[in-house]
Amino acid sequence: MKFVKAQLFLAFCLYTGIITAADDEFVSRAENVRWVSLDFKTILTWMSKASNNTYTVQFSQVDESHWHDTQDCTQVSETECDLSNLLIPFNRTYQADIQTEPETMSNNADPHDFPHIYSPKFNPYRESNISAVTFTVETVDKNTVRVNITDPLTSIHQNGRQLSIRDILNKDLMYKISFYKSGNTGKRDIISDSSVAEVKNLDEGYSYCFMVAAYIPSRPKSTQQGAWSTQCCTKKDETFLPELSLGAWVGVVFILVTVLIIIITVTVLCCRCCQRRKILHTTQSSVAI
Ligand SMILES: *[C@@H]1O[C@H](CO)[C@@H](O)[C@H](O)[C@H]1NC(C)=O
Ligand SMILES: *[C@@H]1O[C@H](CO)[C@@H](O)[C@H](O)[C@H]1NC(C)=O
Ligand SMILES: *[C@@H]1O[C@H](CO)[C@@H](O)[C@H](O)[C@H]1NC(C)=O
Ligand SMILES: *[C@@H]1O[C@H](CO)[C@@H](O)[C@H](O)[C@H]1NC(C)=O
Repeated sequence: MKFVKAQLFLAFCLYTGIITAADDEFVSRAENVRWVSLDFKTILTWMSKASNNTYTVQFSQVDESHWHDTQDCTQVSETECDLSNLLIPFNRTYQADIQTEPETMSNNADPHDFPHIYSPKFNPYRESNISAVTFTVETVDKNTVRVNITDPLTSIHQNGRQLSIRDILNKDLMYKISFYKSGNTGKRDIISDSSVAEVKNLDEGYSYCFMVAAYIPSRPKSTQQGAWSTQCCTKKDETFLPELSLGAWVGVVFILVTVLIIIITVTVLCCRCCQRRKILHTTQSSVAI
């Protein structure tokens, strides 16, 4: 009896061994597994040599090692998986597992025989990139400009509301505002912990240009700063005279003085001319008498 059991076991091992070898020929392990995440829309991507495989993604919190299934990424043929709404809470480190299966799977196939690969570790709260923001600038008084920043929206919905990055990052979200006086190369930076910031002590009458980027100092250096926005400038005050440079003022005065001199000279010459003619006229008439 013992002998028979051993033989059966051996036969079983050989059988599964053959199956595995056969599967390996056209089931190829996923490669190049990467996280791509922007404004908390987080997508796991990978590459594959075979075109006729399917993939099943599971994920787990690194310190828990309990694997969760993904409804939308089970036996799919795409080589990406959107995990934005699953990696919650955001401030945890996650790892995913991608298993490759043949397109046509036999019923008695053992999933443990299929090749799989772990993703790099990923923490959405600390590593999701932040896109360029939009903002407006508005002059408050002659030395102050208000910068009004729109927090980018995420793809996360909670209680029927689409969350912004402020809803997720709260107090950790700041903005870096970089600005310069138009025509000047020197840039200044300020950090604002609110989405509406007042930039004070600006020179009266000049145009200023602003650029904004999300800034999250609590993150690691490489992911602290979001993309820079396009620049937005205030209009210069056309009625403000000191806008003219000293050179321009000298020019204006010079032209005025020149015109004045010409007028005076012409007037003086004319008068002399008239006077001489008068004298000549009277002399001629006295000779005639
Ligand atoms: C964030 O952006 C940088 C630079 O574009 C890129 O190298 C990195 O892969 C991105 N990270 C994620 C998680 O998308
Ligand atoms: C899958 O494709 C590979 C080549 O890419 C081919 O050798 C194999 O026979 C295909 N398998 C199925 C089940 O179509
Ligand atoms: C995120 O997690 C890190 C480490 O677990 C912790 O130090 C940090 O305070 C957390 N941040 C927030 C906003 O919960
Ligand atoms: C900032 O802009 C938003 C709309 O873009 C507006 O609702 C809000 O009142 C503005 N805030 C300030 C302080 O101007």
